[in-house]
Formats: sequence, structure tokens, C-alpha cells
Amino acid sequence: MKTLTKLLSDKLGAAFEACGYSPELGTVGLSDRPDLCRFQCNGAFAGAKLYHKAPRAIAADVVKALENDDELKKIECVGAGFINIDITDELLLSYVKDMLDDENLGIEQTEKPETILLDYGGPNVAKPLHIGHLRPAVIGEALKRLTRATGRTAISDVHLGDWGMPIGLFIAEMSERTDNKLDSVEITAKLLDEIYPFASARKNNDEAFYEKAREITKAMQNGDERYMPIWREILRASVEDIKKNYDRLNISFDYWYGESDSGSFIGELVDILNEQGLLYESDGALVVDVALEDDRITIPPVMVKKSDGSNIYATTDLATLIQRMKEFAPNEIWYVADSRQSLHFTQVFRCAKKAGIVPEDVKLEYLGFGTVNGSDGKPYKTRDGGVMKLEEFYRTVYDAALERVSGSKYSGEDEKADIARRITVATIKFGDLINHRTKDYVFDLDKFMAPDGKTGSFLLYTVARVNSILKKTGEPDGFDSKAVYTETERDLLHKIALSGEAFGLAYSEKAPNIVCENAYQLASSFSKFYHDNHILTEQDEDKKNAWIALCAALKIMLEKHLDVLGIESVDLM
Ligand code: ARG
Repeated sequence: MKTLTKLLSDKLGAAFEACGYSPELGTVGLSDRPDLCRFQCNGAFAGAKLYHKAPRAIAADVVKALENDDELKKIECVGAGFINIDITDELLLSYVKDMLDDENLGIEQTEKPETILLDYGGPNVAKPLHIGHLRPAVIGEALKRLTRATGRTAISDVHLGDWGMPIGLFIAEMSERTDNKLDSVEITAKLLDEIYPFASARKNNDEAFYEKAREITKAMQNGDERYMPIWREILRASVEDIKKNYDRLNISFDYWYGESDSGSFIGELVDILNEQGLLYESDGALVVDVALEDDRITIPPVMVKKSDGSNIYATTDLATLIQRMKEFAPNEIWYVADSRQSLHFTQVFRCAKKAGIVPEDVKLEYLGFGTVNGSDGKPYKTRDGGVMKLEEFYRTVYDAALERVSGSKYSGEDEKADIARRITVATIKFGDLINHRTKDYVFDLDKFMAPDGKTGSFLLYTVARVNSILKKTGEPDGFDSKAVYTETERDLLHKIALSGEAFGLAYSEKAPNIVCENAYQLASSFSKFYHDNHILTEQDEDKKNAWIALCAALKIMLEKHLDVLGIESVDLM
């Protein structure tokens, strides 16, 4: 379904053309002054340059051509040549009805459904998840859902860090503790919490231990059978823990591949790079030049093999690209990874393109993100200044949510727990996603959980409020309102009608915050509408029915927004 601004752009374009101007000048956008008009076209200014005519004269021609258009309530030329537009209530109502009848709720579907592979999450096994793992998973999940909502295919891969030093350190420590009897070790959640932080600290003042961990890492990467059982066991226990954390946040993956799955493509990688004459030795390591002439900062060569022959982060990312092109042939690959990894991805992308591992027309995108901070402006920590585990972070929010539902209409303990979980997810995710991906933000529990303002709770309350209205009035028989009675009602109808545009823009900008902002706009427009129009006591049946239908429409739209953000709504609150 076309967006409303596209429909209007077609109309204005045809009018420009009929007046002898290029139809491209007819682009209509949202007005900056919704109090004066809802839509606006500034094409007369570009036309003035093309046709050496005053913009006002061009705008006047177009306005005259559309003066009697029966879908436009208002079209006028203002100022130096702006065209202000309002649509009729009939068009507004029929557009909203079409949206509700559309299986995609008016979100424009792409004409060429590309396949986008999304690499997000990226936790490292053998280490407990911490607060730093929140954003890549939350943002990536929303981008996946947004991609799907626009008719594209999105494939998600968690890309576990399951092949690096952390595992080597873990195994080195475990092998000492078990007297080398690694095969029968069972990794518990407690061991996962304890071993890595211990081993990681130990390596700093125990060089022999560090060396052993390095050797183990290399042996493991070369498939040394001695380490396979313990490696598999670490993977099993870690993935179990990671899934538990992601599941309750509604974060899921189509593929649970890890760096280790690229192992069988490393030989091919080295062959390709050699065939192309790109790989050369530098200080014993094997590297590829990726600098370009007009680089403003120095981009060092990317290292593919360390001097001891072992693989590093770039090696596995390059080999994974070979695997991904073969297995998924995506049109684009997006990597959601923290802001410090920018150089790494520049190097990897350039090398992959240079070597022809990824064809020129396949887009590789690195999407960095900012940090979750505490009130001191530094990365969010536990009270005593330690690393905030994701589990603990979730608990903190969950406990507050549980307290909130304790006095609610819900009676059963399971029910309360479920609602508290939904509030927790809404609080965490909306609080995160309302910020542009690249920005840092301060996590403030009270603010993020407030029942009004730009919070997940406000949106859940809005859905719950509509539910309770509809419980009293009964569900409407579809949407077939014939008139708009009040200004707050008209505003809400416009907000609904323009939601399709918000999803389109959010996709093209890869910015879920636009969906959050639109959801908030919908909910606050609803609050005003609900406050001004007394639905339950209205005596005029037509009015009352129109308002009930609008409540139901708002709910459907809002739930679509929440779904794209990966947030579940609640029945009552
Ligand atoms: N495991 C990495 C880390 O902890 C993130 C992985 C991002 N994805 C990728 N393909 N490199 O920093």
C-alpha cells in the first residue's frame, strides 16, 4: 500500500505536469506546522530555478489546477511559494480503513525484496553476559523485525565468539583445577560466572599461565581432539545461559553459528588471498593492505594470520563472509557491534571486497552503538562498582516491575510474574531504542519506568486502557466511520494514517528510534482524544461507534509498533 504522502505526491505531480512543469516537483511531505496544515509541497522553489519563473507563480498554477479536487480540504499558496495542503475527512477515513484492511497495516512493502543478513548479539561464550551485551541484541532484534515489516527477508545470526582467547583461558584454568581431566567436566552456571573472570585476572601476572592459554587457543582452533569435549561442554552451558537471557527479552536468532563455524573456510580464505597476490608477510604475520588513496586517517593492513600461525578476529570474520555468501547469498549484511570496532569492520569489508569474497553490489554495513551509562556518565555498573551482569540488570528492573503489579487486578502469582516480565521488557527495550542507536544514554530506572512520557510503560498503559474501554463497549464491527466529529479525533486519525511513513523512514535510516517516537506520538494523541471525547457516556450512536472503532484502530497500530520493537503488550495494567 502506498503511503499517504506518496498518494499526495502523485496527485501534486500530475498537477505540476498538467501545468507544464516536471512531475517530480510534486513531492509532498509532512508540514512543519501541523497546526496550519498537515502536508506541504515546496516544489515551486526548485521549479523556479528550472523555469526561470517566480516560485509563487508556479505554486499558484498548481493550486488553481487542484482547487476543486474532492480529496483536498485545503490547498493554498502561502509565503514565497509554499503549497499548504489538508486532506478531506473522507480521504482520511478511507485511508485508515484501507490500512486496517491491509495485511501489512499500511507499511509500504518493498518492490524488490532483498535478503538482509543481520549479525547481532555476538556474545562470547565462557563469559557471563553483561550490560554491554544488551544493546547489540535489542537493536539488532528491532532491525530484524523492521526489515521483515517492510517485506524484506531478514536472516539473523548471533555469531558467537566461541573460538578465541576467553575459551583458551577458561580451559587453561579448568585443566589445572581438574588435574587435566577435562573430558568429564560438567560446566555449571556457577563455574561460568567464576572461571573466566578469575583466569582473565590471573593472566595479567602469570605469564606461564597466559602462554598456556595461548597454546590451548591455537590447538583448539586447529581442532586438537584433546580440547573438543570441554570446548563443546563450555559451548553447551554458555548457549543455554545466553538463550535464557535472550528469550525473556524476546530476542531470537535463526542461526546460532559461531566464529568456529568459519574454521572450515579459512583454508579457502588464505587460498583466495594468495591467488590474488594480496597476502604478504609483515613481521612474521600475514596481512593484506586495505588503505585507500584518499583515506583521511591511516587504515593499517588487516592481519589474517598471526606470526604463530593462529587466527584472529579478522580471520574469522573474513572466513565467515565466504560462508555467508555461499549459504545465504544476501544482498546486504549488517553488523551491529560496539562503537570501538569501527576500524576492524572497515578493514574486513575492504579486504572482502578487494579479494572478491563479497561482490561489489553486496552492501556491508557496520552499525555501531553507544554505551548504557549510569548517572555518573560512566558505563552502568553494580552498586559496588563491578561489572553489571545482564542477569542482574534484568532482575533490578523486574523487581521494580513486580512491585508495581503487586497491587494490580491480577491475582495469580504466575500472571503477575508474566505481566512484570512484559513491563520489564518494555522498560528496557523502549528506554534503549528511543535513543538513536549511536548515542550513549543514562539508564535511570524511575524515569524509564514512569507511567507517562516516552516510556514502554506509557505504551503498555495505553493498550491496556483501550482494552478496558473495549471491554465495556464491546468490540466494533470493523472500521467504517463516515464522519470525523472533533479535532482530537482528527489528529489521532492523522497519526494513524501517517504511521506507515514512520516505518519506511525507520527502515531506510536503520533507526528504530523513529518507530519509538511514532508510537509515543500515537499514544499521546490517544490520551488527548480520550480525555476530550467521552466515549462511554456519548449519546449519539454514530459518534460513539466512530470513537470505539478509532480506539480499536489505535490499539492495532500501537501493537504493531510494539511488535516491531520486540515488546509484548499487556491486557490490563
Ligand atoms: N564477539 C564480538 C565482541 O564481543 C562481537 C561480534 C560482532 N560480530 C562480528 N561478526 N564480528 O566484541
